[in-house]
Amino acid sequence: MDNVSGPVCIKDLETIARSVMPSGAWGYYDSGANDEQTKYSNISAFDEYRLHPRMLRDVSTISTETTVLGQRVKTPLGVAPCALHKLAHADGELATSRAAAGHGSIMILSTYSTTSLEKVIAEGDGNTQYWMQLYVYRERQVSESIVRRAEKAGFKALVLTVDAPVLGRRLVDARNKFNPPSHLHLENFIQDEATGAGSETFGALFGANGDQSLSWDNGIAWLQSITTLPIIVKGILTKEDTELAIKHGCAGVIVSNHGGRQLDGALSSIDALPQVVAAAQDKIEVYMDGGIRRGSDIFKALALGARAVFVARPVLWGLAYKGERGARHALELLQKELELTMMLTGTTSIEQIDKSFVYQPVNRWVRYNKRGELVAKL
Ligand code: FNR
Repeated sequence: MDNVSGPVCIKDLETIARSVMPSGAWGYYDSGANDEQTKYSNISAFDEYRLHPRMLRDVSTISTETTVLGQRVKTPLGVAPCALHKLAHADGELATSRAAAGHGSIMILSTYSTTSLEKVIAEGDGNTQYWMQLYVYRERQVSESIVRRAEKAGFKALVLTVDAPVLGRRLVDARNKFNPPSHLHLENFIQDEATGAGSETFGALFGANGDQSLSWDNGIAWLQSITTLPIIVKGILTKEDTELAIKHGCAGVIVSNHGGRQLDGALSSIDALPQVVAAAQDKIEVYMDGGIRRGSDIFKALALGARAVFVARPVLWGLAYKGERGARHALELLQKELELTMMLTGTTSIEQIDKSFVYQPVNRWVRYNKRGELVAKL
């Protein structure tokens, strides 16, 4: 760890990103819904799980390799889908793609990418898995066209985000009257590369055209009827929905509350994880995102049963710091911390990390924000 040059932890990257980004763009990345209880508790909930380290177990060689959807990956750490990477850096999703591929991380690309999905995957090395995040629109052919393009381009899975039938209310954005700058385009919707025609605005797509009537019955079956790619449902927090995901033939679920940007007051991701893992019964893979800022957070999530984890804001902060190198730096910081945690807990492989390595004290439902104020008592 001592040879890390540049920011030494994710918190430092956050501080730098805050200082270099315009306030509107910073606010868009940072904000959670309403009082941001869920955004903060995603982070603070990790503190309530303590590690149970084992000693004298020969940690001279360790590996973070594992499998996801049956394929080997170098690390269980991936990039969560986030809109508008070009708000952080002009190279946008191309830089993130190179960083993810260089690091061996799965990248989930947002539908609201500011670079077309074909260009993003073309930056990969042929080994890295790319998954395409989807929203389903009332005009189903819009979503269908993205699915077809993603299949053709070589994406390995579809990630259907289900926690956003309507956009959560983010007060920071409302106060800032934030709108993405007009030179940025949602390139997955551009029909004419030369003129930019067909590019739609963020608000118009999200607010007006999302299919709010989507349900387990009409949504998953429809998606399965147009694709053979595995379907992963993102935004699951309960055992009931996990059982439904299994029943409807999904390949996996991502335990997530959208980084606290949707339903404020929703359970933190790490607290939701155990019930989802229990309900999944190894029939489908369980991943999680939300609040991971340390390698030890990754370790805790794996110990509680996640097959892989994804990070959003840390990568965006890295991007704002130094484009591809910054995004890679964010992933490397977390990776090195994960490796350090493994060695100090006496684990040499991902398979060894199980719930015997975490301990949860009793006062688990009390949450404080970073200023030490009580934000939730569930
Ligand atoms: C997101 N997230 C998100 N999720 C999704 O399914 N589609 C999207 O387009 C976006 N866009 C987006 C933009 C920004 C700026 C953020 C911060 C987040 C949610 C994201 O995938 C993930 O669920 C959480 O952000 C993970 O939490 P952390 O790592 O940011 O704490």
